[in-house]
Amino acid sequence: MKVKTAGGEQDVRALWFEDGELVMIDQRLLPRSLGTLRYRSYAAVAEAIRDMVTRGAPSIGAAAAYGMALAARAGEDLGEAAAAIKSARPTANDLFYAVDWMAARIEEGEDPAAAADRYAEAIIEKCAAIGRHGAHLIEDGHRVMTHCNAGALATVDVGTALAPIRQAWREGRRFMVYASETRPRLQGMQLTAWELVQEGIDHAVIVDGASGHVMRQGVDLVIVGADRIVANGDFANKIGTYEKAVLAKELGIPFYVAAPVSTFDLSTARGEDITIEDRPPEELTEVAGIKLAPEGVNVLNPAFDVTPARYVSGYITEKGILVAADISCMGVDAHE
Ligand code: MRU
Repeated sequence: MKVKTAGGEQDVRALWFEDGELVMIDQRLLPRSLGTLRYRSYAAVAEAIRDMVTRGAPSIGAAAAYGMALAARAGEDLGEAAAAIKSARPTANDLFYAVDWMAARIEEGEDPAAAADRYAEAIIEKCAAIGRHGAHLIEDGHRVMTHCNAGALATVDVGTALAPIRQAWREGRRFMVYASETRPRLQGMQLTAWELVQEGIDHAVIVDGASGHVMRQGVDLVIVGADRIVANGDFANKIGTYEKAVLAKELGIPFYVAAPVSTFDLSTARGEDITIEDRPPEELTEVAGIKLAPEGVNVLNPAFDVTPARYVSGYITEKGILVAADISCMGVDAHE
């Protein structure tokens, strides 16, 4: 991703491996500052994933892959490392997929850091392919809605939902992106809007509650990312996705999910079986450390919701645009 700096432009990824350490953009600081943190142990990587230093399913997967590489290089018990990393967050399939993929590569004798690099590079290529497959959905003058951040920050580089948007913009089409702010952590306003500003793509941030109103006024397409897509096509994504999908169906707006095949969990049959992460109440009750809710308030803070497959027009993947019926036909080799 190109980022504007005082001296011009800089190419930046969400995370990378350097001098035996995992370096990650601290996404909690954006858009105020573009700072990085360095990690030398799998335990610290697991904690960073839990604390949202990096987030977004494919970036979580890449961080997990590097966490496994750090464990292997330090000669640590890989079973313990795998369990610790997998316990960081429950919903994103890429986290579990990446840990198992790395364990298999290390078992085969591949250099752990090289395998993790290969994993991260593959994500970027898959996202670029998602962009190529999905770009034609966006026409001149379209109004495209997205939710949360499924951009370069969420996928090492390029993005999933933002990949077709970037690609269509590069192909010269001009359109408008509505990014919903995404309470409580504001990934839409803080991260997606930041990426759109860097890229110079026309956009407007809206509060989550404005989605229905804005969609009725005129939205041509909704594209979101996913944390886990199960065998029947139901999928989990950031809280607030489900209501956009229902509204889109009501209003006849095409609703697409963009994700690499590593986000597909073919071993889970239905959306009801997806584990939804509950996050700490302070994410709701405090903003920038200021307490906004009364003492003793009760809070429910599910980080994701599940959208049934019947609301999805298509799944934009690196292999092309799929429909729900294609998913159950995928073999285990689909992941390679
Ligand atoms: O809690 P987050 O910020 O990790 O949630 C991220 C999302 O919900 C994204 O839409 C999803 O992981 C896809 S990222 C390409």
